[in-house]
Amino acid sequence: MEGEAVLLLDRRGRRYLVVLQAGRLHDLRGGKLPLDSLIGQEEGISVETSRGERLLVLRPTLAEFVLEMPRGAQVIYPKDLGVLLLWGDVYPGATVLEAGTGSGALTMTLLRAVGSTGRVISYEVREDFARQAMRNIERLLGPVEHLILRAQDIYAGIPDGPVDRLFLDLPEPWRVVPHAGEALRPGGVWVSYVPTVPQAQQTVETLRAHGRFASIETIETFLRPWNIDGLSVRPAHRMVAHTGFITTARRIMGRE
Ligand SMILES: C[S@@+](CC[C@H](N)C(=O)[O-])C[C@H]1O[C@@H](n2cnc3c(N)ncnc32)[C@H](O)[C@@H]1O
Repeated sequence: MEGEAVLLLDRRGRRYLVVLQAGRLHDLRGGKLPLDSLIGQEEGISVETSRGERLLVLRPTLAEFVLEMPRGAQVIYPKDLGVLLLWGDVYPGATVLEAGTGSGALTMTLLRAVGSTGRVISYEVREDFARQAMRNIERLLGPVEHLILRAQDIYAGIPDGPVDRLFLDLPEPWRVVPHAGEALRPGGVWVSYVPTVPQAQQTVETLRAHGRFASIETIETFLRPWNIDGLSVRPAHRMVAHTGFITTARRIMGRE
């Protein structure tokens, strides 16, 4: 369909994300590919550029799209997105609040998980990031009616609530603890994501001291790809070694 993003894969597995536009010639390493030849076709076909390079055409999965889409802010990697959904216990119909929107990688993951009966409210202080995130989200998911994007500084407060789940990917999540104590419903789940140990430590200590959070846990994930080719069956030489620490906690009734 015109306006949709498709993934072109070459023989060596290299990926190119292309937006389908009628009448456009796409340039790929000196070869031309008329995008009209892709519009209206089934996924999984092979096409050839004017230089004879064969390419496989597929709709990107969410994980593939996140890695290839244009970014303003650093995205959360697919290896963490999957774990965030389960550790945050996101379910169809949930109301989820998130900050900051960034490039929209977590937002689109949450939108798919809550489904059309759920709602995602996402705060972002930078207008340019919010605009890029919205472009990315609609490119993958089409028009989204269950997303509310707000230009709101979450350190200043959470005017929305009560919410079922709270996701934070910003530098000082501990500053959100007092607001989260009010906005999260009892039993609701706090999820924060930070790249460094001091940030994770300060978050956990603030959650513990607050009195309305229990079951506080911090984890990190490792995902090691493998090479399986003839006799060469071994882990890949390179992996994404470090991304972030995930802290989860449950909102309880607590001390008055
Ligand atoms: C690392 S990025 C988020 C990336 C996003 N999770 C993704 O997967 O694409 C952090 C974002 O938080 C935003 N931000 C920082 N402080 C904020 C605040 N107090 N309230 C709302 N957004 C904030 C930044 O502008 C930035 O876009």
